Amino acid sequence: MKLQVLSLTIGMLAHTSLGATLGKAPEFATVVTPRTVLENSYDFVIAGGGISGLTVADRLSEDPSVKVLVIEAGIFDQDEDNILIPGQFFTPFPFQYMYLPLPSVPQTALNNRSFNVPAGKVVGGGSVLNAMVYVRPGAEELDAWELLGAKGWKWKDLLPYYKKSENFTAPDPAYAAAANFSFDPSLHGTTGPVQASFPSFHFKGSGIWFEAAVSSGLRAGGDPHAGDGSGVVYIPSVTSGTTRTRSHARLNHYTRIQPRSNYHILAGHTVARILFDNTKKVTGVEYLPSGGGERLTVQATKEVLVAGGAVHTPQILQLSGIGPKKVLNKFNIPIVVELPGVGANFHDQPSIIIPYNVTNNVSPNVGTLNSDPVYDAEQRALYDATREGPYQLTRGLSTNLALPPLCNATSDCRSIVSAARRTNPFKYLPEDTHPTVKAGYALQREIILRQLEGPKTPVSMIHWDTANSVRMYFFKPLSRGTVQINSINPLEWPLIDYRTNVDPTDEDLIVASFLKNRHIMSQPSMAALNPLEAAPFSNNITDKEAIKQILRGVTEPSSAHQCCTAAMMPRILGGVVDPEMKVYGVKGLRVIDTSYWPIVLTAAPTATTYASGEKIADAIKAEYGLQSL
Ligand SMILES: Cc1cc2nc3c(=O)[nH]c(=O)nc-3n(C[C@H](O)[C@H](O)[C@H](O)COP(=O)(O)OP(=O)(O)OC[C@H]3O[C@@H](n4cnc5c(N)ncnc54)[C@H](O)[C@@H]3O)c2cc1C
Ligand SMILES: *[C@@H]1O[C@H](CO)[C@@H](O)[C@H](O)[C@H]1NC(C)=O
Ligand SMILES: *[C@@H]1O[C@H](CO)[C@@H](O)[C@H](O)[C@H]1NC(C)=O
Ligand SMILES: *[C@@H]1O[C@H](CO)[C@@H](O)[C@H](O)[C@H]1NC(C)=O
Ligand SMILES: *[C@@H]1O[C@H](CO)[C@@H](O)[C@H](O)[C@H]1NC(C)=O
Ligand SMILES: *[C@@H]1O[C@H](CO)[C@@H](O)[C@H](O)[C@H]1NC(C)=O
Ligand SMILES: *[C@@H]1O[C@H](CO)[C@@H](O)[C@H](O)[C@H]1NC(C)=O
Repeated sequence: MKLQVLSLTIGMLAHTSLGATLGKAPEFATVVTPRTVLENSYDFVIAGGGISGLTVADRLSEDPSVKVLVIEAGIFDQDEDNILIPGQFFTPFPFQYMYLPLPSVPQTALNNRSFNVPAGKVVGGGSVLNAMVYVRPGAEELDAWELLGAKGWKWKDLLPYYKKSENFTAPDPAYAAAANFSFDPSLHGTTGPVQASFPSFHFKGSGIWFEAAVSSGLRAGGDPHAGDGSGVVYIPSVTSGTTRTRSHARLNHYTRIQPRSNYHILAGHTVARILFDNTKKVTGVEYLPSGGGERLTVQATKEVLVAGGAVHTPQILQLSGIGPKKVLNKFNIPIVVELPGVGANFHDQPSIIIPYNVTNNVSPNVGTLNSDPVYDAEQRALYDATREGPYQLTRGLSTNLALPPLCNATSDCRSIVSAARRTNPFKYLPEDTHPTVKAGYALQREIILRQLEGPKTPVSMIHWDTANSVRMYFFKPLSRGTVQINSINPLEWPLIDYRTNVDPTDEDLIVASFLKNRHIMSQPSMAALNPLEAAPFSNNITDKEAIKQILRGVTEPSSAHQCCTAAMMPRILGGVVDPEMKVYGVKGLRVIDTSYWPIVLTAAPTATTYASGEKIADAIKAEYGLQSL
């Protein structure tokens, strides 16, 4: 979940370091240079050290006879406060750990605006900078993956891996009951490396808004991890229940297990392409410093695992000769295998911020941290001393979310769905979409429409921050975009076209959610605070076309939940990988990051990304007969 609030102008140096209190990240012998890489051979080379890459590297290197190298484009973080302390989130903006700039192409259905594509470029990837929201999707959605051909990826199949990945700290029962948290211990793990917990603090406004969301007809949702992703729920975060600091992939899948001399990380280097022999078996990768320089190669005797994230993974594949013929021919890249689905089926979850003037709000609220430096300093001191108070919460966020199914958001749900069904499913796809990708999309579309008319899958996520804004995230887009190389230089950005809202049904879904938010805000408990939509919105604008017009000027294409550019579907449906994440048509190559998702899930991706890393690591270990600890 992305926070669009903070500007890039905030200086990066104006932070103090928590390092003094928590201990600096030590330098391990396993952080290597290109020289060490040249002197070693590896069984597995992993391209990209984000959530997926580090999860799999950790598990494979449990077997001491296996040598694993992770090549990560970004650098190591330094345990800065704005990384570790939730209340310090994005203050200052951690731009040294992101791909910046990474522009999208102009978005035709969003007034031709271009956007920066949010993506982590740091050891740990998105987990180092994300908003720490920790949720699972509904069972129905993972079950739908299997309908799309991802055999063995049902809810029931992934549940053991969600549990394996996490150490879930139960909230204090009395506090949880008063604050409407709920938690089913049988569905959680307590021995995994990913620390997850509920905060022990909420702003009073959270409760007021919870009551309004319930009185608007939404069900108090209980445990958001139990397989029903809808309702009004309190959210856990990816933080330790003891230190109340971020648990990111560098900490939980690398630092935690050091020293482990068979697990190497080469930071600051970018994988340029994958190398094959003449039987299309992977032999290794070519890489270079992320700032530019000489190209080097490293051998992978077993496999290369691609984990660059959903924007960069298709770039790596296309540069390696795996992708749509037209794109490869344009850059004279020899075709290793034609897979039209590489870079197709790109989606994310569009988002908006609705500014409010809450003229009778209760205080303190999350805004008080920014408006009252004395309160802010007191709360930071409280956190430093006792780990209590609002600094446990991701700065800018509250503690609960509303997740309405479409038919709980609007009485128009059936007409929206039936209009979409009457539309030619291919009408809004890119013009040159390959027939196999079209066939896969047609199936996806029908599955999503069924979810939208059903009672279980939310259409959006609504979040009042307790101060002056509501953020909304749109979960079930029908529009599909593309990621295609624009150059043979691996350090240049690809053409990233979200194609947000090109399918006009997506605008109807956004308007339905927008009006549901208005409904929640008008319930008695919230109405007492007198929340007024601020410019460019206004409560007196009720015409749907007028609302759509405004939305085109403010909708963002992303929640930083990019996915699906190398989908796990059959090849005849435009798929790129099989249910073991093996790339079709070659040997020794898998795609192990969120690119493999066939369709985006309701929830924020982190929990599922860690869990699927565990699952695929198990499959690889079984195939090669590797040991576990
Ligand atoms: C600002 C922000 C906020 C977010 N908020 C939330 C949230 O609150 N909750 C949630 O669940 N999710 C959130 N997410 C999303 C979540 O973090 C991602 O979905 C998740 O990190 C994806 O994991 P991944 O393994 O696919 O890729 P990533 O974790 O992005 O890792 C990919 C890694 O590959 C590296 N890389 C790319 N190309 C190359 C190359 N050619 N060579 C070498 N290395 C390469 C990148 O530098 C990166 O480190 C957020 C993301 C961002 C950016
Ligand atoms: C967006 O750009 C296209 C192509 O330049 C143009 O035809 C269209 O009118 C523009 N749309 C808006 C809303 O400005
Ligand atoms: C808990 O739920 C009740 C009933 O909806 C509501 O009145 C109360 O404000 C909620 N408390 C919190 C902290 O959400
Ligand atoms: C949706 O509305 C129905 C009918 O009022 C209700 O029974 C159900 O609990 C609601 N679902 C959610 C997730 O709020
Ligand atoms: C799980 O979290 C609790 C609370 O933070 C901590 O005491 C315990 O050591 C953690 N266990 C693991 C395996 O990380
Ligand atoms: C908020 O509303 C109050 C009362 O109507 C008004 O005085 C104030 O100017 C408004 N503030 C903003 C930022 O619009
Ligand atoms: C609508 O509200 C805005 C601000 O809240 C106000 O300026 C405007 O006059 C109102 N328009 C109508 C038609 O009431």
